[in-house]
Amino acid sequence: MDPAPFPVQRLRRLRRTPALRRLVAEARLGIDDLIAPLFVREGIDTPVPIASMPEQSQHTIESLVVEAKRLVSLGIPGLILFGVPSLRDATGTEAYNPGGIVQRALRALRDAVGDQLVLMTDLCLDEYTDHGHCGVLGVDGAVLNDPTIELYGRIAVAQAEAGSDVVAPSGMMDGQVAAIRAALDGAGYDQVAILAYAAKYASALYGPFRDAVDVSIVGGGDRRAYQQDPHNRREALSEIAQDLSEGADMIMVKPAMTSLDVLSAARRSVRVPLAAYHVSGEYAMVHAAAAAGWIDGPAVALEQLVALKRAGADFILTYFAAAVAEQLSG
Ligand code: PBG
Repeated sequence: MDPAPFPVQRLRRLRRTPALRRLVAEARLGIDDLIAPLFVREGIDTPVPIASMPEQSQHTIESLVVEAKRLVSLGIPGLILFGVPSLRDATGTEAYNPGGIVQRALRALRDAVGDQLVLMTDLCLDEYTDHGHCGVLGVDGAVLNDPTIELYGRIAVAQAEAGSDVVAPSGMMDGQVAAIRAALDGAGYDQVAILAYAAKYASALYGPFRDAVDVSIVGGGDRRAYQQDPHNRREALSEIAQDLSEGADMIMVKPAMTSLDVLSAARRSVRVPLAAYHVSGEYAMVHAAAAAGWIDGPAVALEQLVALKRAGADFILTYFAAAVAEQLSG
């Protein structure tokens, strides 16, 4: 007797028309999923384009406000702000100066857009130190953990006082979330949330960002003694669990496309909102290949962001936010 024919499942039936495909889509990317990273620089009077990040600029406070209003009109729910100060010193004083560039920009943004945008702030020291590291240095040149998180607490309070809704610590110091939560609560900012860059890898994909904030690490150093080693996935889950136990409200995985496994594992292990950061190098690669005529840039951008949703991200920090919002509503 002949064996029963192998049962071929007719999976192509549901791929036949755009409407069918739309109906059965498992992951969806919407404008509500997008957070736009923006840069504000002190001491300039016109925006400065960032060469390695086409269509992105270091903003003046005025041009930042214009861009924020554009994000509102596109329906994007939030932005994350990075500052480029005129003055840098050993302990990154401008990061926690109430009159520092990010603090001034936050006040202007709040005046202009009210609560129409979630205002997030990157919370770190590397843009503010003269050595370019994310913390203060000991005599041997290593980043000191506990003195650094004490300063992170001060930055958190300065950003909260200026109107940040969500502070996002990105320095990868141990205990940073607990220190920031305690500082915020102690100053009466118990409603300010923490988005922890919980699993942040030491990545070469942050290259263009260093142009965006004019940071180079002294002596050609790197961040491998505090950011995570890309070989490790279980360790990322320890970082995430630790940040949650310290009081993180939301967690982030970064960079994005090289961390799909981490995102997917994180999605299964946590209930809080999960973010992915599609970083500067990921943005630059898409633009560069598109400019050479080798790929369809907007299509690749969309494909990558959808993959992040499929892997489990709730929202995505991406320099493509405005462009993709236009695509999605167009
Ligand atoms: C640290 C910080 C960095 C990025 C976000 N926050 C730089 C770094 O860790 O070296 C990178 C973001 C990107 O590449 O888009 N303040």
